[in-house]
Amino acid sequence: SLYPIILAGGTGSLLWPLSRAQHPKQFLCLDGQYTMLQDAVRRLDGLQHKAPIIVCNEQYRFIVADQLLQLPSQAYDILLEPARRNTAPSIALAAFDALRREPEGDPLLLVLAADHVIRDTAAFQRSVQHAIPLAEAGRLVTFGTVPERPETGYGYIRRGKPLSEPDAFDVDRFVEKPDSTDAEAYVSSGDYYWNSGMFLFRARRYLEALQTHRPDIYEACETAMQSLTQGEDFERVDSDAFKQCPAESIDYAVMEQTSDAAVVAMDAGWSDVGSWDSLWDIKPHDANGNATHGDVISFDTHDSYIRSESALVATLGVKDLIVVQTKDAVLIADRHHAQDVRKVVAELERTG
Ligand code: GDD
Ligand code: MG
Repeated sequence: SLYPIILAGGTGSLLWPLSRAQHPKQFLCLDGQYTMLQDAVRRLDGLQHKAPIIVCNEQYRFIVADQLLQLPSQAYDILLEPARRNTAPSIALAAFDALRREPEGDPLLLVLAADHVIRDTAAFQRSVQHAIPLAEAGRLVTFGTVPERPETGYGYIRRGKPLSEPDAFDVDRFVEKPDSTDAEAYVSSGDYYWNSGMFLFRARRYLEALQTHRPDIYEACETAMQSLTQGEDFERVDSDAFKQCPAESIDYAVMEQTSDAAVVAMDAGWSDVGSWDSLWDIKPHDANGNATHGDVISFDTHDSYIRSESALVATLGVKDLIVVQTKDAVLIADRHHAQDVRKVVAELERTG
């Protein structure tokens, strides 16, 4: 059986000021009528699966429960983390949780992010189907997409020998967040995929790999799960034990280390909308290359993303700008500095 594991605990800080620590991007409607979390769940329609397990920070429990309630009734489990420890521990908790439900079985985990855009659901589901036999055979499968630019915020996967399933390959090498020189070399080589941050593997296989490469994380999560409490709406792990857990992503903790990884190439219009620049990129543009949202008028404005939430925004004679207006904050940035939004957020965190 297959358990979708939806990671919904990130802070989405690069989309400040729309995305806030209290209400990060996975809970926003960036694109259409559903929030990104709701889209992640809706994308599963038609796949055979068990009740999805949503893993998120304690602080997001009501937003998550609320957004799931708005979808046609389906069963979910919401597993709460008492602290942010990144994705390797989140997935470990979910793996233990799936095994608790099926102690005799070896469930598959389809690990998904709550904050990605995927245009072509059918292509996404086909890739999942291709990955299932590989995961059943014990491979740690990731979904790769053809890189478009030397983005340094992603993982890169070097394609190895082809496997029996369509579009499937051994992973020769997995490099998480390379520097820009390496990223450029990977993109121009044509041998690399971007890691989409979605994975498929058996729960036991992931836990084994984690135990091998990061026994400290494995043990902390195992202990935290031993005193799992199940309420009507939420599941909670032992807070003290989980707080002892080191923070690390699955990419560094497992995917870079293992020799059992496989990649399924996915061409599904995937984007992680990691920044305002990438949101501009996937939005429809007007004749001047602008993407706008809300109450906006512009003259002689080119290649810009302009978003108004609650006031009229007007632009004149500008190019390559990001303008995002919200009720209590305004961002004005050069589009090529979209990654530097993290500096603003860091400064805000520092000064409280
Ligand atoms: N529950 C939970 N707890 N979820 C988390 C946590 C956490 O502590 N931290 C992050 N997440 C969620 C985020 O909400 C997101 O959906 C997903 O896990 C990935 O985390 P990010 O923080 O967005 O990772 P990233 O974008 O830097 O890198 C990952 O994704 C890239 C593609 O978008 C890596 O897998 C890269 O290799 C990959 O290219
Ligand atoms: Mg991300």
